[in-house]
Order: sequence, then C-alpha cells, then structure tokens
Amino acid sequence: MTQPVGAAERRHRAGHDGAVVWITGLSGAGKTTLALALERALFDRGCTVFVLDGDKVRHGLCADLGFSLPERSENIRRIGETARLFYEAGQIVIVSAISPLRADRARARALIPAPYFIEVHCRCPLAVCEARDPKGLYRKARAGLLPEFTGISSPYEAPDAPEVLVDSAASSVAQEVGRILAELERRAIVANSVQGA
Ligand code: ADX
Repeated sequence: MTQPVGAAERRHRAGHDGAVVWITGLSGAGKTTLALALERALFDRGCTVFVLDGDKVRHGLCADLGFSLPERSENIRRIGETARLFYEAGQIVIVSAISPLRADRARARALIPAPYFIEVHCRCPLAVCEARDPKGLYRKARAGLLPEFTGISSPYEAPDAPEVLVDSAASSVAQEVGRILAELERRAIVANSVQGA
C-alpha cells in the first residue's frame, strides 16, 4: 500500500513549516516590493517560498474578474484557496493583494491553522500612494477614467489587529522584511537566523 506523503515528511524535507504571509494595503503602498524582498530573503535561507501577487493572478486565474466588490471577493477567495494549497504543499506563500474587505481576509485566514497565517498591513497614507502613483492609476481614477478605484471610489478596510504592521512611508524595505522574518522565527515557522550570518 502506498504511504501518502504527510505534512511531517514535507516539513522534514523543506526544513520549515508551510505558512501564509498575507500582505494587504492600498495600491502603491509597496506590497509587491515587500513581497519580493521577503521572498528573496526566505529563498536565500533555503526556504521553499512563492509570491501570489494580485496583479499577476489577475492575468490568469482571475482574468475573468473586474473590480466590483463581489468580484474582488471572488478574487480574494481564489487567492485564499490557492494559498491554502501552497500551505498544504509545505511552502511559504506570500500573498500580495489589496484585499480591501475585512470579511474576505477573514475567510482566507479561516482556511489556515492560526499560527501559520500572518496578516501584514502594509500601511501607507493615501496621499503618499497617490503621490507615488507608480502606474498612473490614481491620476486616471481622479479624472474619472477608472471607476471603483480603491481609496478613491471603492473602500479599503484596514485590519484592526494585523500580526505585523509596517509603515512603508517611514521604514525601509529591509526593516519591514526583518520584522516579518522575526515574526516567522517567533512562531518557529522558520529557524532563527544565525547571528552575524
Ligand atoms: S483586490 O482589490 O481584488 O485585492 P488586486 O490586488 O487583485 O485587488 O489588484 C489590484 C491591482 O489591480 C492594482 O495594483 C492595480 O494595478 C490594478 N487595478 C486596476 N483597476 C483597479 C481598481 N479599480 N482598484 C484597485 N486596483 C486596480
């Protein structure tokens, strides 16, 4: 009889637990930058890690969805279910998506055992995001050319009690990555880094 591959074996092979690091925040807050830097840091430590980015997912898995609130809910549902599969595969998955509604984030959280879901609020004042406007979307939204734009004409519900709160207008990406790594270490999801290594 085939012995099914179990979670403990996966953990032993990977050298760490599976986990979901869920980064929420406004467009232009720095979610993707943070996700990629965290992925690099974990990858360089030998972790199996992958980023699920809202912008990218919307080109494939969620290409049929727009930006109405029900469509965003469905987008987040699919990302949450995908993250769950990565978690079950023993990987660390970093989600980077606006995920503007508390209820949708709560539903994604409910799919993962509590210690292994880390919500990160990438906080940045709307005015700063708008000044950065890396994709020119705020300008379009203000001109009325982009309806239902988060923070302008569509709501963003900030988390009340995220596991990690980073202030992207005030701290460096390296500092933010350090904070999340410390949380992963505190939860024994990844091993403590060797001092000075
Ligand atoms: S979410 O609200 O459903 O979580 P998601 O993170 O997948 O959004 O996608 C957000 C990205 O889509 C933004 O970074 C931006 O590039 C693009 N986008 C296009 N239209 C909108 C819009 N109306 N509101 C927010 N983002 C938009």
